[in-house]
Amino acid sequence: MSNAKRPDGRSYDELRPIKAELGIAKNADGSCYLEWGKNIVVATVNGPRPVLPKHLADPSKAIINYKYRMATFSVSERKSPVPGKRDKEISLVSGHALEAAVMVEQFPNTMIDVNVLILSADAGTRVAALTAASLAAADAGLAMRGLISAVAAGRANKQIVLDLNKEDEDTEDAVDMACAFLMPQKELALLQMDGFADKKECSKILETALKGAEKVYEIQKKALVSKYPVEGGIQ
Ligand code: CDP
Repeated sequence: MSNAKRPDGRSYDELRPIKAELGIAKNADGSCYLEWGKNIVVATVNGPRPVLPKHLADPSKAIINYKYRMATFSVSERKSPVPGKRDKEISLVSGHALEAAVMVEQFPNTMIDVNVLILSADAGTRVAALTAASLAAADAGLAMRGLISAVAAGRANKQIVLDLNKEDEDTEDAVDMACAFLMPQKELALLQMDGFADKKECSKILETALKGAEKVYEIQKKALVSKYPVEGGIQ
């Protein structure tokens, strides 16, 4: 990729600055505060807890009750506090993605509540939310196969770009591919795409997203180790 810059000064394959801190909500079992460019996210995890009513329980695994919400003040036009179709869809697919990381089969007949609140939004909030939720799940001490490292990649101004901000997303030819990977296994856990791209371009975008997810994973590991020091670091 060239060294040319985007309007915000980033090169095409550069992430926005990311800062993550664990254990910020003392009444949650696990929590994470995440700044990702101008996105601000708080994720909490509680559980596993018994499912009520009992007939909704799954005897083979825990149900991940993932709620993605945007604060009314998180976007330029006041967001209704009532969850809309978008919030519900993001919640559903993100819950499934998180299931790839959490060993849900170890907690049959239970529910794990995951709440993610977007305090400030500048595109890429669903991937920032999943990245934070996965850290909150680890902070809660849940048995996990790995972490979910999520990032978007796509096209803006005819260029393949990593981590689109709102300005990139609002360009005329924009393609936005939200991806989540189970790391370090590099298994794809979520892929959603807005816009049109041919097969070759889709492959390039996915490749760009995976490289971005590897960087996100490094940041997540640092956040984990700063709260839970591990000799020799995490793989
Ligand atoms: O945030 P993400 O890219 O995952 O989702 P999106 O549906 O592609 O939304 C992109 C951006 O549009 C959000 O991050 C917000 O900045 C903005 N947005 C908004 O202004 N009002 C909404 N009701 C929803 C999104």
